[in-house]
Amino acid sequence: MEQVRRIAVVTGGARGIGRAIAAAFVSRGITTVIADIDLPAAEKAAAELRTASAEAVAAKVDMSRPEDIARLVTDLVARFGRLDILVNNAGILSNTPFDEISEAEWDRVLDINLKGVLFASREALKPMLSRGWGRIISISSLAGRNGGISVGPAYAASKAGVIGITRHLANKVARNGITVNAVAPGTTETDIIKGFTEDQLAAINKSIPVGRLGKPEEIAEMVAFLASDTAAFITGAVMDINGGMYMG
Ligand SMILES: NC(=O)c1ccc[n+]([C@@H]2O[C@H](COP(=O)([O-])OP(=O)(O)OC[C@H]3O[C@@H](n4cnc5c(N)ncnc54)[C@H](O)[C@@H]3O)[C@@H](O)[C@H]2O)c1
Repeated sequence: MEQVRRIAVVTGGARGIGRAIAAAFVSRGITTVIADIDLPAAEKAAAELRTASAEAVAAKVDMSRPEDIARLVTDLVARFGRLDILVNNAGILSNTPFDEISEAEWDRVLDINLKGVLFASREALKPMLSRGWGRIISISSLAGRNGGISVGPAYAASKAGVIGITRHLANKVARNGITVNAVAPGTTETDIIKGFTEDQLAAINKSIPVGRLGKPEEIAEMVAFLASDTAAFITGAVMDINGGMYMG
């Protein structure tokens, strides 16, 4: 049987968890669009990851702008003729406590982390529905499960919201060959945790039963599995990957 060549887009794929997801896709022969607000970093990642047997290309997108997202999806469907897998990974951290956060910061965090997930999913569903196959995987967070300890309320709310959108969409498209799932990582070794103080990081490390932070590759392997044909019966699920910190 001829192998289908799938097309994936990974938002925020230039570094960290998104880059590891892009690497996992490319290693499985999936053509991967690394879509990031930082185009030079996305181009660098694509150049490093592409192989003779799987393409990796860069694209610029600001996930807080629905018109940017619509253009991204239109452009990549025009180029590749299809879109099979969307990973909503782009996100920003906000540690500002609830009694200090400004309206502007709240809006910025929710726009990128939550609004972007809805609009990207809506755009990606069009080509997926037309082919009757699709995978949407959104990166939530441990903070969306337990309310967050070191992070602020905007981040926790955005990541809990990602779970709500995931379950809503999973129900809507369950009969169309499309699964929609969330992955909720605990603290993982990427640039995003540079916002934590050393004391905060020490406290986090101490509170993780496994005794260490997560690695981006450990999140990426789960995403790659959820994106596969094998995972067809998993939808509306939240995969907790946190070294035992939250056992829901
Ligand atoms: N690292 C962790 O501890 C951790 C834990 C739980 C969840 N997460 C989530 O995992 C995802 C990836 O995080 P990471 O740790 O790899 O972060 P990171 O900061 O290393 O990478 C995030 C990427 O997203 C891009 N980005 C930021 N704003 C964007 C926008 N408006 N539009 C498009 N791209 C944008 C950045 O340029 C960057 O390449 C995020 O959604 C984050 O909330 C991370």
